[in-house]
This record gives sequence, structure tokens and C-alpha cells, in this order.
Amino acid sequence: MGKVHRLSAELANQIAAGEVVERPASVVKELVENAIDAGASRVAIECELGGKKLIRVEDNGIGMDPEDAQLALDRHATSKISRSEDLAAILTLGFRGEALPSIASVSHLALRTRPAGAPGGTEIRVNGGTVSSVREVGAPTGTSIEVADLFYNLPARRKFLKSDGAESAQISKMVTQLALAYPEVGFTLTSAGRKVIECPPVRGLPDRFYQLYGERDDLVDVAKEAAGIRVFGLVAALAEQGPKRGPQNIFVNRRIVKDKTIAHAIIEAYSVSSVKERSPEVHLFIEMEPDQVDVNVHPTKAEVRFRNQSAVHEVVRRAGGAALGQGPAPELQLRGETVPAAQPVTMSFPGLLGGIYPNRWSPVPVRDTTVGMPASAAWTAPVVAEPRAASSDPSVPPAFAGQAEQPLQGAIGVRPMIPLGQFRDTFIIAIDDEGIAIIDQHVAHERVLFERVMQRLTDGRLESQLLLEPLVVELTASGCQVLLSRTAELDRFGFEVAEFGGNSLRLAAVPALLTPDESVAAVRALAEDLDGLERGTTVEEALKRIAALTACHAAVKANAPLTYEKMAHIIEELRRTAYSTICPHGRPVMLRLTRREIEKNFQRI
Ligand SMILES: Nc1ncnc2c1ncn2[C@@H]1O[C@H](COP(=O)(O)OP(=O)(O)O)[C@@H](O)[C@H]1O
Ligand SMILES: [Mg+2]
Repeated sequence: MGKVHRLSAELANQIAAGEVVERPASVVKELVENAIDAGASRVAIECELGGKKLIRVEDNGIGMDPEDAQLALDRHATSKISRSEDLAAILTLGFRGEALPSIASVSHLALRTRPAGAPGGTEIRVNGGTVSSVREVGAPTGTSIEVADLFYNLPARRKFLKSDGAESAQISKMVTQLALAYPEVGFTLTSAGRKVIECPPVRGLPDRFYQLYGERDDLVDVAKEAAGIRVFGLVAALAEQGPKRGPQNIFVNRRIVKDKTIAHAIIEAYSVSSVKERSPEVHLFIEMEPDQVDVNVHPTKAEVRFRNQSAVHEVVRRAGGAALGQGPAPELQLRGETVPAAQPVTMSFPGLLGGIYPNRWSPVPVRDTTVGMPASAAWTAPVVAEPRAASSDPSVPPAFAGQAEQPLQGAIGVRPMIPLGQFRDTFIIAIDDEGIAIIDQHVAHERVLFERVMQRLTDGRLESQLLLEPLVVELTASGCQVLLSRTAELDRFGFEVAEFGGNSLRLAAVPALLTPDESVAAVRALAEDLDGLERGTTVEEALKRIAALTACHAAVKANAPLTYEKMAHIIEELRRTAYSTICPHGRPVMLRLTRREIEKNFQRI
């Protein structure tokens, strides 16, 4: 007896602070989220010494009356939910009533606030969780919260903070993410007296994106809606050197999240359409009905749980895949505009950021910032596409059953086309009802073969062809070792390798797709790739690169005359592939001259 006692409110708050407030950027996140929940249209953030000395967040939201202001600093005090049913469909960013008391328990906090219409404002000062003064002050409508000397009373915690520069960078990243999610809100971030971010309110995401990142033609537009899940945003385009690496900003119902399911789906989208897919830059917004996602999982609300996780995975994967490869073939423009030979496909998608884009991205809801909490409901409402009856295809998740793959607006894919002939023995000229296509025969065939190789690998193994006379390949000692340690994987590719003595290997069988010479080249490349294993190459990546190499070697070459049958075959196969407009290395497969463009130039419209 007598050993168990209740923690003081102060200590309980400090413990909660341990979860909610990891670093200055988490304070910024909580305070800005409160401002957004309060319907602010402008939020100004100021920091000194990476937020360790001072963080100030000012908003023009609804403010608080004196009673609410005092209550807001109590643990588990919130205006955002009241019944347990509310937890099932949370429409605000906050709901736990923990942030303010937690932050106040580990800093010197000053809160100034005035609701619209009230004659005066309230100022409350708190030191390490203890209220030291409450008084009436003059204040503009809205709320200002100042957090000084974060963790001053928790030296162990303070020691864990990084340099001022590193903490400032975290804050900028956080504000950037919040600004991306709320284009209709204006943000400024001042750090050590310098304006770091300045984004006045704008109409929608494209404008906000431009404010933050400028013109980016190395990103492609994502837009897909299925099974009640809407995915939109921008992701790194495929490119010769692999997609651009960069921030992975992922939002679910406008909430910044870290989610393994989504991250995995993104990587998968890249891995089927490209040879190199490591940590691509993505800015992805996922929307669903609020009751389809549980946000009450983690104190910082950074993790969420999906009702239908596999549907989310599938829609994100398809959205990414479609964006990376299935977009319309780049359009050839006449009238003096030159089309460079091998530009990344993103170059001439007409109206990428201007035309289709704004319509596809949801317009930002008009919020009434004068009354109550923001109408988040209005914003989350528009996604509904009820899952239909179950399908017999086991590979189709139930949520997709009965839903045919809907082509995206503007994403034509490859229609049945009739080949007319070759241009310079390198390009196939083909027509359909909607225009004329110029197809790079090598790149197109490479795409087709890459898909086929990857498909067969997923299904089992590549067909192998026994050599009458085994080939001997001389390699480096480590190259030799590394291949011998992976004979089982090589076997899946149709390579039968064995030790030959010295640094040589004996090739008894090779993939049926390759000639013996090409097989030797592939084995050498594989040895080199796998040798770099310690430097981060995974077997799968190396194999995929080999798949691309295999495809590249086996594909028809440029400057090669083709029969009509061969041309028809390539076009038909291309039509079947899911990613038909980009080769595995990111080069465009075809250019199109649209019917409209032709008719316009002949003045027929
Ligand atoms: N910037 C603000 N403007 C208006 N009200 C605020 C603001 N910040 C906090 N509040 C009020 O204080 C309450 C407690 O805030 P907080 O501790 O962050 O919990 P939560 O956001 O989870 O409700 C909020 O529910 C809200 O009513
Ligand atoms: Mg909050």
C-alpha cells in the first residue's frame, strides 16, 4: 500500500508532450493545425534559433473567449469532438485536446486571442505547465501563440535536438507540407528574421505548388478515382537516370501522413514501369470518406489506418502506373514548334499544368471563416463510387470487382493502329482514326519485351536455350564469386552458369530471347551490377536492369527494315502492354500528330 499514486497534471502533460512534441517542427505542426481548424485564412509563423528559442504562430481564425482560452490549456479539452461516435469520422485536424497543454508543459507559453466581435482579447501566460497570469489585452481577431525556450525544463530532451539549421529545415519542411495541403490559406514563415516561405492564399493546388516549387516539368500529373478513393498530385517522371529523388509528401484527407501501404504502392508503380525507382519525389493527395480512415492511431496523428487497405494500395498503384506510362503519347506540334528528338515524355503533354490540370484537381472549397469550424466535410464529400459485386477474378481485389479499368480523361492508351510503312528504317508510321503516330521501332519493341520478361519472371522463369557448345566468360574474381552465389536466381532468367576455374564461368544455357553474344554481355553486366551489392543494389533491382538489358538486346534495332507483319506485330503487342508510351529507360515510344492538329493546319476547322 501507499506505493501507487496519481501523477500530477504537470507530469502527465510532460509525458504526453514526450509523444506529441518531438521537436520544434512538431510544435509548429500542432499550432498551425489549430489555426487551420479555427478557419484561419492567413497563418504567420516565426522562429528563432531553429524554434528552440522562439516559435510564434499567429492566425486570423475564430479566436477564443476568455473561458475557452483557459480551458484550451487543460488536458483533454477540445471543441472538436464531443461524443465517441465523432471519432468514427473526424473532420478536423485536431481532436485529442492534447497539444496545447503538452506544449505549455515544456516551454514558456503565451497565448493571445480574441474572437470576432468581442471588445477585447485575453492573454494567458504559462510556465512549464503552470499558469502564471491571465489578463485582458487588446488583440486583433484571431489567435497568437508564442512558445519560448522549448524543453527548458527537460534538459535530456533539449539535448536531443539537432543544430539550429537542421531544426529550421524541419520547420520549413513542415510548413511546406501544410501549405501544400491548404492552398486556400496564406502562409508565411520567418526564420531568424528572414522570410523563408511566403504563400498568399491561392485557388488550388497547382498554384500553391508553383508558389512552393516553381515550374517543374520533371513531374507528371496523377489523377485517378476508384472504389471511393481519389488520388491526385504530382510524381517524378521516368527518366534515363531514374525518377528524380525528392520529398515524399503524402496526404490523406489533407492530413500529412506516413504510411507504409501508400509508400509501397508508389514503389510498385515505379518498379513495373521503370528500371530505377528508388525514393522518387511524390506529392500525392488521397481522399476518401472520413469514415474510411481511422486517424486516431497515433498521438501526432501521422499514422492512419484504412478500412480497406488493399483498395487504397491498388488505387494508388494504378494511379501511379497510369501517370508514369499510360498518358497520351506526346503530341507532335506543327506550326514552327520544334519537337526535340528524345525528350522525356512529360515535355509535350499539352496543358499539363494549365489545361486539364486545374479542372482535375478539386477546386478548393470556399470556407466560411467567420463561423464555426471549417467545413471540411464539404471538402471530403465528393468521392463516392460504391464497390460493386464480387468478381471471379482472384487477382482483382473485391473493391474493384465489376469496375472496369476506367481510362483517365485524356489517357488514350494505344488504339488499334494500322502500320503504313517505315521512315528511314527506324520509325514506324501508323494511323488510326484520331491521328498519325510515329513509333520508334526499337524503343517500342524494347518496352514490349521488357514487359514480357518481367511478366515471365513474375510467373516463374524465362525460357532457356541449351547451348550446343558451352560459352566461357572471363570475369573479375569478385564478379565470378557473386554470380556463383546466385545461380538459382540466374536460373530463373534462363542462365545456367557453373564454375570453370580461375575467374571464368561456363555458360551452358542462355535465355531463349538472347543470342549467345548478347548473353555474354548480359552476364558481364549482371556480374558488375551484383558486385555493387554492398553499395545498395538489390538482387531484384539488378535483375530488373538485366530484364531491361535483355529486352534492349533482343529488340529490333534502328536502321532495320521491317516486314508489314513485323510492324503490325509490334503495334499489336504495344497495345497490350500496360505502359506503352515510355520505354523502361524513360524514353518516349511514340509521338502523335492528332487529327485536330492536322485539320487545323489544313484549315478544315
Ligand atoms: N489557434 C486557435 N484558434 C482558435 N481556437 C484554438 C486555437 N488553438 C486551439 N484552440 C482551441 O483549443 C482547443 C485545444 O487545442 P489542442 O490542445 O490543440 O487540442 P485539439 O486541437 O486536439 O482540440 C481546440 O479544440 C480549440 O478549440
Ligand atoms: Mg490541436
